This record gives sequence, structure tokens and C-alpha cells, in this order.
Amino acid sequence: MSGEARLDWRARGGAPLRGELRVPGDKSVSHRAVMLASLADGVSRIEGFLEGQDARATEAIFRRLGVRIEAPAEGVRIVRGVGIDGLRAAPGALDCGNAGTAMRLLAGLLSGQAFESELCGDVSLSKRPMGRVIEPLARMGAHIHSAGGGLPPLRIHPSNELQAIEFTADIASAQVKSAILLAGLYAQGETVVHEPQPTRDYTERMLAAFGWPIEFAPGHARLRGGHRLHAADVAVPADFSSAAFFLVAASLVPGSDLVLRRVGMNPRRTGLLPVLRAMGADIAEENPGEQGGEPVADLRVRHAPLHGIEVPRAHVADMIDEFPVLFVAAALAEGSTRVQGAAELRVKESDRIAAMATGLRALGARVDETPDGAVIHGGALQGGSVDSLGDHRVAMAFAVAAQRVAGEVRIGDVANVATSFPGFEALAGEAGFGLAATPA
Ligand code: S3P
Repeated sequence: MSGEARLDWRARGGAPLRGELRVPGDKSVSHRAVMLASLADGVSRIEGFLEGQDARATEAIFRRLGVRIEAPAEGVRIVRGVGIDGLRAAPGALDCGNAGTAMRLLAGLLSGQAFESELCGDVSLSKRPMGRVIEPLARMGAHIHSAGGGLPPLRIHPSNELQAIEFTADIASAQVKSAILLAGLYAQGETVVHEPQPTRDYTERMLAAFGWPIEFAPGHARLRGGHRLHAADVAVPADFSSAAFFLVAASLVPGSDLVLRRVGMNPRRTGLLPVLRAMGADIAEENPGEQGGEPVADLRVRHAPLHGIEVPRAHVADMIDEFPVLFVAAALAEGSTRVQGAAELRVKESDRIAAMATGLRALGARVDETPDGAVIHGGALQGGSVDSLGDHRVAMAFAVAAQRVAGEVRIGDVANVATSFPGFEALAGEAGFGLAATPA
């Protein structure tokens, strides 16, 4: 999180990627599991919890709000829920670190509390737009003060009573939808959210699993305030977004044959799969099953030559976190790949269109940036230095690129990989990556 020592990577082509591995737990599910378990009546057990800084930031915040959370083993949390009205005020700001999900969802949830709270974050999060949640929450009667331009920190003042709204979002954002639904738990009347494109529905699914009446379908959700949450056990699947780095790396490196175990296959997360397959990737889904109410499967990926495509806009929301690594696949494919309708990438942990275009150009690629995407001209890449801008997914995407580069790639500012994928270097090294940390 903020203030940690800067770290760089040296990466170069290693061995073909082979064997079996399991990537860490899903970040989105881990955040929501701690939140709902904290507000439930009774004791919930979470397994497969992501031991990354983002999910731990949420956990630390709920501890400060008076929830007892035990961590008896890695990836396990026992949460002693305090009930829907059981949180208590914490002195000082609540630090969300790098986690946009924590800040936006908590803005909704804390708007319904009878006490004041303040949410802050690291340098990256402090530049990310919060007006998208402040504005609809204000319509519900919340009082949230931000720094200029709707930026963090957020000071949330108690409001007498929230009123439900029917909200039609103009951006496809699960964080915005979730903030409104979580405020809706405390609102009078029925809260309804409509989305321009369906986004991940973990908040809806998990509210249902914790016993809160909710109706939802792709692109729509509705619930009423005034119920209670009941403790539930949550088995967090492996994070598709973390698996994505290995799907692309194994596709790119000749001789690769890699199996990723029990990956979360929620269709709102797996948009990269049809896109990679349309580019020529060889990815098989094996042993489909269910874990904690979520579809899971083993993914077997073998090397295959990739070619450029026009990425269908319909897949953009379902692969919104996978664009950094998709840009890498495109830069090493034959022909050009066009990405459109992805302006949201400009307000992620970094401006991911600019970060990827700049870094790929430093490795010799031709990339034409557009306001809402890019045209990436495929070919060979060469060694060089790139800056991840402190963005975990940009850093890991360039580590993937390096596996197909003649020469060394130096990737700057990678410490934030620990926000979503603790142990990435070790796991990638086991699979065959050439990757080593160097203090900057
Ligand atoms: C997330 C939603 C997405 C995604 C983020 C996690 C969530 O953000 O990019 O990594 O857990 O709800 P947006 O809602 O801003 O698209």
C-alpha cells in the first residue's frame, strides 16, 4: 500500500509453461464476503479469501468498525457478524489502500450508518473518480463530501434516512451498482439499478446467499431495505483475472501446456475467453463444477499462434480487467487488433490505455491510441524498460510480454502486484516464467 518500498522486475523468456497451478482467490468476491459476513447475524466462514492487500484493506476496515475477524489459516477468515446495524464508528480515516472496490462499495454501505466516517486511499486511488457513486447516493439522501472534482478522501456524514431510488447508470460499473444496492439495504422503499451493459453480479448473488431478498437478472437488480443478513459460509473461487495472465502467456510461448485449477467462470468475468479463442487460442474448459454458488472449471491452455481481431464491444464489460494482458496478446499476434468502447480503462488503477500503449511502444510495438481504445499492430517485441505506473495488472501484463521477447524487459514500480496477486513471481516462476525482483 502507500509508502512501501519501490520494486522493479527483470523479466525474460523462460521455459515453456507447463504443469498445473491454482491462482489466488477472487478479489471481488473476497471484498464482498467480508462486507456481508460483517453485517450478518452469526458467524460466517470464508475459505479461499484473497490474501492480497486490497481484500486485507477491507478486512482491516471492518475490524476497525468493530467486527471480530479471525484468520486461523491462510485464506481462511472467521467473521463474527455484528448485524445490519451493529457497526460502530472508528476514529480517523478508513484506509482503502489501492482498492477502488473497497472505497466505492463502502461509500454506499457507510451512507446508511448512524455515524460519520472518512474513506481515504493511496496515491492511485486518490486520483480515481468518486462522483459516479457520490451523485446517486446523494439522490438517496446521503451526505458525502469529497475533495475537489469528486476525488477521495470521502467524508460520509450520517443522514436521517435514505430513500430508495430507481437508477439508470450511464456507465457499466459493478462498483457503482453495488454501492447503490448496499445503500439500498438501509433505504426506505425499493432500490432499482439498471445498467447499460450487464456487469459482475457478485453483490447480488452474495446478498441472496446471505438471505436478503433480491431480484436480479443481467443488467438489472432490485431490493428493499429493512431485512437482515444471515451468516453463511463462502468458498471463494480462484480469480479469473489472475488466471488470465497465464492464459495469455501459455498461448504465446511455444511448447506450453498449462492447467489452471478451479477458476471462477462467472460469465460476467470471462469475456477474455471468446476473444482469445477468436484470436486462435487453444483453451479447453475441463471438470466444470460449482464452488460457493459460482461456476468453476479447470482451464487447460496450450500454445497456439494468435492473430488480430476486432474485439466485439459486447465483451468489453465482461473482460474489463483483462485489457492490459489482451494488449500484450495483440502486440504479439499476427495482424492488428482493434479495441473500442473501453474508455473506462482510462480511470482504472492507472490510465491503462496510455500505460499499455507507452510500454508496448518502448518494446518496439506500433500502437495507435484512441479515446476509448487502441489499434495494436502485432509483430515481434524487443527488450527494453517499461513503467507499470504502480498498476498491478499493467506490471503482470508486461511480465507476460517478456516471455516472448528476445532480450530482457525491465518493469518498473511493481510492488502493487501484491494488491491482487500475492506470490505472483513465485507461481509464475514455477510455471516457467523468467522473472526476478530487483529493488529499484
Ligand atoms: C470490480 C468492478 C470493476 C473492476 C474492478 C472490480 C468489482 O470496476 O474493474 O477491478 O469488484 O466490483 P468498475 O465497477 O469500476 O468497472
